[in-house]
Amino acid sequence: MRYLSTRGGVEPVGFSEAVMMGLGTDGGLLLPESVPRVGPDLLRDSPRLSFQDLALEIMAPFVGDAIPREDLADLILCSYATFSHPQVTPLVRVGAQPILELFHGPTAAFKDVALQFLGNLFEYLLERDGGRLTILGATSGDTGSAAIAGVRGKERIQIFILHPAGRVSPIQERQMTTVLDANVHNIAIRGTFDDGQHIVKALFNDLPFKQQYHLGAVNSINWARILAQMVYYLYAWGRLSGGDPGYRLSFCVPTGNFGDVFAGYMAKHMGLPVDRLLIATNRNDILTRFVTTGIYEAGEVHPTLSPAMDIQIASNFERYLYYLVGEDPAAVRSLLGEMSRTGRMQVTQGQHATVAHDFDADAVTDPQVLEQIRRTWERTGYILDPHTAVGVRAACSRGDMVCLATAHPAKFNEAVREAIGIEAPPPPCLQGLLEKETRCACLDADEEAVRDHIRTTLAANSQ
Ligand SMILES: Cc1ncc(COP(=O)(O)O)c(C=O)c1O
Repeated sequence: MRYLSTRGGVEPVGFSEAVMMGLGTDGGLLLPESVPRVGPDLLRDSPRLSFQDLALEIMAPFVGDAIPREDLADLILCSYATFSHPQVTPLVRVGAQPILELFHGPTAAFKDVALQFLGNLFEYLLERDGGRLTILGATSGDTGSAAIAGVRGKERIQIFILHPAGRVSPIQERQMTTVLDANVHNIAIRGTFDDGQHIVKALFNDLPFKQQYHLGAVNSINWARILAQMVYYLYAWGRLSGGDPGYRLSFCVPTGNFGDVFAGYMAKHMGLPVDRLLIATNRNDILTRFVTTGIYEAGEVHPTLSPAMDIQIASNFERYLYYLVGEDPAAVRSLLGEMSRTGRMQVTQGQHATVAHDFDADAVTDPQVLEQIRRTWERTGYILDPHTAVGVRAACSRGDMVCLATAHPAKFNEAVREAIGIEAPPPPCLQGLLEKETRCACLDADEEAVRDHIRTTLAANSQ
């Protein structure tokens, strides 16, 4: 399988190169040249197959001959052995509502599904090709810990994660800083998340530095993350359909960067019988406005009770745009140009009709989130995290659909306490964090200070 850039400026590359490249060298996002089909046999067999079996069937055609099938199977087994639930992403009934729990990985968030796999995939490719990688990222809380959990202890990988000092929740901070593996380097920046993000971008733009230290990213633009997330759509379908290819299932997806819901779109593109895909946003509703009006226009970012979705520009949206404009990179470039010149882009009426055919969308306010957490708790005794509550609230008036549960509620206990007066009991991976030993450097929000710190740490680690 070969991969192309949404902006058309990358010579087609194989799966391994696409994974190592992350963001296309032309600034675009990578997509497969063609989309393999889910065959009727796989649909029929899916109720009997485990998550890991389904992952192998979904991933193998996208990986092509880049990795032998047995090695891919091992990578998948090893990636999901860290999950605390034997079904990996169990489908549970909360009252009448089916909920797909994606939070049984090592950091209790859906990102583990992709990042556990990506960490092992990186390690496999680096060992095979004799490379090294320095992962650099800024986090506002959640992605950092999932990325660290994905690569901790891996010999050929060093990871540096910047977080804003004192501005992530104590649990989130400890999830990162209590990981003491020698290849994990946390940096608390005396500044904001944006300061950290700015420094990371500046270091990626310093090409000699980037090349010397083999800088790489793990954010949701990496194709392998989308690939891993496609699996659970098929898993849920298999559990509810009885394998009947005529059975159509709808999903509601709490959405920020458009990665998770794009994985659902790709699963549908592969031929999974998906009926509706409902995009559920919080007050940061650029995607809901786009689905309703055909205009994509960033507004201010508002802090909400579902902070991982406080996003205005959705980094994976460009992938959808590529399909929407008929796989035409020139049309993608033109819309992105319009966006950077005017702060907005508008698709044609015909394209807007396609968008409305592909997605439903709804924006949910914080008071509605609190009410939903309370209502679900009172009726069923189940505690929703605020991100999942955005989805459940959006879905409640729209008929049957599976809601994706993207985080364990104990990660967001302030909102839970506000809603129902008690906290969700933490799962084992979140217990005792506040008492554990930590390691973290604290630096000024200064590019040079971070560059120096990375240099000296890597020099010390290579001795
Ligand atoms: C808990 C949680 N829910 C939902 C989302 C939204 O996912 P996406 O950004 O892929 O749309 C995120 C993303 O960070 C998240 O952390």
